[in-house]
Amino acid sequence: MGSYTIVMLCILFFILTVTKIRAKVPAIIVFGDSSVDAGNNNQVPTIARSNFEPYGRDFSGGKPTGRFCNGRIPTDFISEAFGLRPIVPAYLDPTYGILDFAVGVTFASAGTGYDNATSDVLGVIPLWKEVNYYIDYQDKLKASLGEKKALETIGEALYVISIGTNDFLENYYTLPQRRRQYTVDVYQEFLIGIARNFIIELHNLGARKISLGGLPPMGCMPLQRAQNQENGNDCMEIYNIVAMSFNEKLNNLTMELNKDLHGLKLVFSNPYFILLDIIKKPSLYGFDVSRRGCCGTGTFEMGSACDELSPFTCKDANKYVFWDAFHPSERTNKIIADYVVKTSLHKFL
Ligand SMILES: *[C@@H]1O[C@H](CO)[C@@H](O)[C@H](O)[C@H]1NC(C)=O
Ligand SMILES: *[C@@H]1O[C@H](CO)[C@@H](O)[C@H](O)[C@H]1NC(C)=O
Repeated sequence: MGSYTIVMLCILFFILTVTKIRAKVPAIIVFGDSSVDAGNNNQVPTIARSNFEPYGRDFSGGKPTGRFCNGRIPTDFISEAFGLRPIVPAYLDPTYGILDFAVGVTFASAGTGYDNATSDVLGVIPLWKEVNYYIDYQDKLKASLGEKKALETIGEALYVISIGTNDFLENYYTLPQRRRQYTVDVYQEFLIGIARNFIIELHNLGARKISLGGLPPMGCMPLQRAQNQENGNDCMEIYNIVAMSFNEKLNNLTMELNKDLHGLKLVFSNPYFILLDIIKKPSLYGFDVSRRGCCGTGTFEMGSACDELSPFTCKDANKYVFWDAFHPSERTNKIIADYVVKTSLHKFL
């Protein structure tokens, strides 16, 4: 090898090492509902909890953390894909401290929504309070890392937002108040207005790289199918249509805010079509069952109804698209996470 080649190789090696060490994203910071809650609700007086068996049975140590899953949730896999830790801990979990949260933290709360009236249903953390916790986090981060390093983390972190399903299923279509006030189209606009203000607020607080998550095909959750007996327990089309229309509005909001807010890099991450494909063609992805969840009968059980003693709970959750009647299994979460990393988050890698 000539010395020129060696010098070039050294330079190349140096560039590769430096890029690897200086990860572009120093932290994953998460807001949302049960799709991304890692146990904040354990510290809240609510029934929207999952910190007991059989939840977490495929998690490291078989530990029920408060994730609504047999194992890890999408943000855990996203963190790992970014070269960060394999789990994103809950801000209210007392077993973690600010140095853990400096590389990843979730403020999410199962059962919450964009709408304050949604978080009221089960007495969980409203979105505005998730933001207050985030402000508190910024203060602790500055005290711990110093102002300069903290501001760097705040500005370079990837912010992941996954929320909105409960506004429709737990609130609008279940309770009369919002339905009396708004048509579903007007209710969607109301939620989009909250989403807009929320992202503007995050931007004001220093966030730049943000992923806004779309709704899943929420008419195909086993719980919704169970209510559709007249159509052979097929997906509830009305909910899927609302999810698609809301996703289009979120996508439009993304384009609008990228134009309006200086330095913002907002991406829309859409789990709808990949999850629908898995549900419609489970065998293509190595699953046996997509119509019901693994836990219990798989048709209504979630939270405390997902009982360790149920004789019906499946043996191998990897064969099931859904873990309980409302939440995907760990293997589905991994497929969804890989998909959104590949299709929308890759620009931050
Ligand atoms: C939700 O409640 C908070 C706290 O009371 C309030 O500041 C906020 O304006 C409310 N949001 C909406 C959209 O009404
Ligand atoms: C999204 O924006 C496009 C282009 O401005 C518009 O034609 C469409 O109606 C919008 N969709 C929704 C759901 O608002």
